Amino acid sequence: MSAAGFIYRFEAGSGHGATPLLLLHGTGGDENDLLALGRAVAPDAALLSPRGKVLENGMPRFFRRLAEGVFDGDDVRRRADELADFVENARIRHGIAAPVALGYSNGANIAAAILLLRPEVLSGAILLRAMVPLTAAPPVDLAAKPVLIISGAQDPIVAPENAARLADLLRASRAAVELRVLPAGHGLSDPDVTMAQQWLRKFTAKIDKTTVA
Ligand code: MLT
Repeated sequence: MSAAGFIYRFEAGSGHGATPLLLLHGTGGDENDLLALGRAVAPDAALLSPRGKVLENGMPRFFRRLAEGVFDGDDVRRRADELADFVENARIRHGIAAPVALGYSNGANIAAAILLLRPEVLSGAILLRAMVPLTAAPPVDLAAKPVLIISGAQDPIVAPENAARLADLLRASRAAVELRVLPAGHGLSDPDVTMAQQWLRKFTAKIDKTTVA
């Protein structure tokens, strides 16, 4: 499928009211990359999985970078906005609720940028190997928005301190951030999946309680 210039995959959920997931791949990935991870983390959820539009030596990404870990801030803002619009339109097209982002690496960084710039688009976020996406983010009220950040203690691309700074930045905006550090590198490991599953279960239980109350 494609819309607003995004090639994407959509998989309907099983209709049990699970919060949809917005799957955001890493550099060089595509819309197929995180489908299995998304299904493992949330078996009943609808999955919306766009491919990043920026090409770096032929590798899809969600925004331009000047070097590894050095981002083009204007492009981050523009692309976060464009992706947020895509998600809002996809919600109408497919009849789904505001998703939880499940992003890896570059996909986690654009999800963090959306949290800082267009927070209403996401109901929460799972950020795997994320870093601070913007040097000067405007003030935002994340009003207890749930966020799970999982970093790797031996990650050569994203220093755990950078993920900790992202956690502080989001907490300063009142997000409810859980930061976990795994004995891992930049690649994902089984404990990432287990932690994401457990966190999402807690998140869903909280939503159910709110709905019943
Ligand atoms: C990024 O560019 O978003 C980060 O450096 C992670 C990566 O994609 O390698």
